[in-house]
Amino acid sequence: MSMLNNITDSIKNVAKDYYCDNNVLLINADVFDVYEVLNPNMIDCIWTDPPYLLSNNGTTCIAGKRVSVNKGKWDESRGVHEDHEFNTEWLHECYKILKLTGTIWVSGTVHVYLSIGMAMKELGYRILNDIIWVKKNPPPNLGCRCFTHSTETLLWAAKAPKGSEFKYTFNYKKMKAENHGKQMKNVWVFNAPSKNEKQFGKHPTQKPINLISRSLRASTEPGYLVFDPFMGSGTTGIAALLNDCFFIGVEKESKYYDLAYKRIAYASDNKSIISDIKTQEGLKLF
Ligand SMILES: C[S@@+](CC[C@H](N)C(=O)[O-])C[C@H]1O[C@@H](n2cnc3c(N)ncnc32)[C@H](O)[C@@H]1O
Repeated sequence: MSMLNNITDSIKNVAKDYYCDNNVLLINADVFDVYEVLNPNMIDCIWTDPPYLLSNNGTTCIAGKRVSVNKGKWDESRGVHEDHEFNTEWLHECYKILKLTGTIWVSGTVHVYLSIGMAMKELGYRILNDIIWVKKNPPPNLGCRCFTHSTETLLWAAKAPKGSEFKYTFNYKKMKAENHGKQMKNVWVFNAPSKNEKQFGKHPTQKPINLISRSLRASTEPGYLVFDPFMGSGTTGIAALLNDCFFIGVEKESKYYDLAYKRIAYASDNKSIISDIKTQEGLKLF
């Protein structure tokens, strides 16, 4: 795709590393440097999972063991106001690059989605839905002083205001058919990523391919350009390929960029497998 190749020329100056083929452009860089070289109104859909900013020396339970929640410097909170400034800043950059017909999906827990929702409203996004992702297999709550956290929230928002001539994509009929002929509700049940989805390595906040793929099935058409500013292990890229979309993903940490590259390049090189992973059987490959 020539559009991806055009951007690649400017990316060379800001990226530690990058990978480009006909369908995807993966960039190892700080996304705030990348926004500078992206064009306004170029992206059809953004799906992202920003830092939750909860690495606060607390603990959680993984595989029956108490482990630290600390994920890295990128996930540390700098206090309520600075965290909100950070969210406002990246959402503002996303607003500029999103087409007038575009939509954005942002996933998060209560640590971050209140600020995300507020920033969206301040910037002029129109919130279309809050999707509640119910995890069938959440970790137990070790403190026993509140309920077990078993959901995450996706805020789905349009750039254009209500009544605008610029219509966003919502594949209503497809979603209804997927829900056995009934209107699809905003409560979605999916398991956390299985071992198969982690066969190339682990990311501490990896999302299930199914969750992102459904979001993109609902809000994209083949040929759309999907963007993830905080790509982590590249799950959005795989979901974009599954939905015949182009993808640009940015990741600052080299170890996660390498993981995303492995997963997406594998998916990209195995087109026949891509169609297979639309099934549970195929998901075993990732
Ligand atoms: C919550 S994780 C995303 C996980 C991803 N959804 C997945 O399925 O693997 C957020 C990612 O954003 C990256 N990140 C944080 N700040 C960044 C920045 N300024 N530019 C680019 N990436 C950044 C982190 O290294 C981390 O991998």
